[in-house]
Amino acid sequence: MTFRARHLLGIEQLAPDEIRSLLDLADTYVDLNRRTIKRTDALAGMTQINMFFEASTRTQSSFEIAGKRLGADVMNMAVAHSSVKKGETLIDTALTLNAMHPDLLVVRHPNSGAVALLAQKVNCAVLNAGDGKHEHPTQALLDALTIRRRKGRLQRLVVAICGDIAHSRVARSNLLLLGKMENRIRLIGPPTLMPAGVAEFGCEVYDDMAEGLKGADVVMMLRLQKERMDGGFIPSEREYYHRYGLDAEKLAHAKEDAIVMHPGPMNRGVEIDGTLADDINRSVIQEQVEMGVAVRMAAMDLLARNLKAERGARAAGVVV
Ligand code: NCD
Repeated sequence: MTFRARHLLGIEQLAPDEIRSLLDLADTYVDLNRRTIKRTDALAGMTQINMFFEASTRTQSSFEIAGKRLGADVMNMAVAHSSVKKGETLIDTALTLNAMHPDLLVVRHPNSGAVALLAQKVNCAVLNAGDGKHEHPTQALLDALTIRRRKGRLQRLVVAICGDIAHSRVARSNLLLLGKMENRIRLIGPPTLMPAGVAEFGCEVYDDMAEGLKGADVVMMLRLQKERMDGGFIPSEREYYHRYGLDAEKLAHAKEDAIVMHPGPMNRGVEIDGTLADDINRSVIQEQVEMGVAVRMAAMDLLARNLKAERGARAAGVVV
């Protein structure tokens, strides 16, 4: 296994061989998760704390299930009822938890860069479960695993990422990962929802779905991130759906066997047609959720191995 990282803060810090190793290990966890008895002891005796400063359904439950299946003791910090509400800073909260000797800290935070800052202050491995508009590495890894299993490869694919690119950490992490694996990436969306400096990403940019989807192997839809918008980015949801909402008619421009993805939570009738989202012949949205647990198990397993090795070396007096 090639995985050198101490924390999982973003795709940016991962090399292609590390990504491949993680996905290979995740494949074995997919098999395990389909059995009746799903327990291993990779994290036995270790403590995992989940700190979610932003709403989450699938990511938080996925990390919790992943930790439990690896045998860790998992604690979900209830941020809404914590000292954070009394004005405690992120760093003070982190230092308090650090004093309880966790081994893995899973953090989601509304500010870009907050998770990396926190990682500098604690002694455990930190996993970024989404920081502002910056990165959401486990989402890109689970998307990659879904694509690799469906398409049989993770290179030379035409991947269209559609919708609210500007506010999406999912798009950013996917761009980085798919770029490292040498795929052709197209960004499709209204110019108001394209990030500044988009030309530097080295991908093709379209504001027309029919044109952008032509020949695509993978169509990745994004949620309109209204909570990150502070003005009028779209004329109306109806107009947006008309131009950018994925339905069978627009999908017909992509390859015949193109798969449809969405990280969830989705707004049916805004970015995607509900019937298409449920069409098991095209949509892999439920599979993405399944892959999410396996990818998070793989990520925590690999970080725990590195952590044990580092602590072992330190105990033996080797400077690390
Ligand atoms: C995404 C997120 O939180 O960034 N959701 C997720 O983790 N599955 C995307 C979103 O909120 O739209």
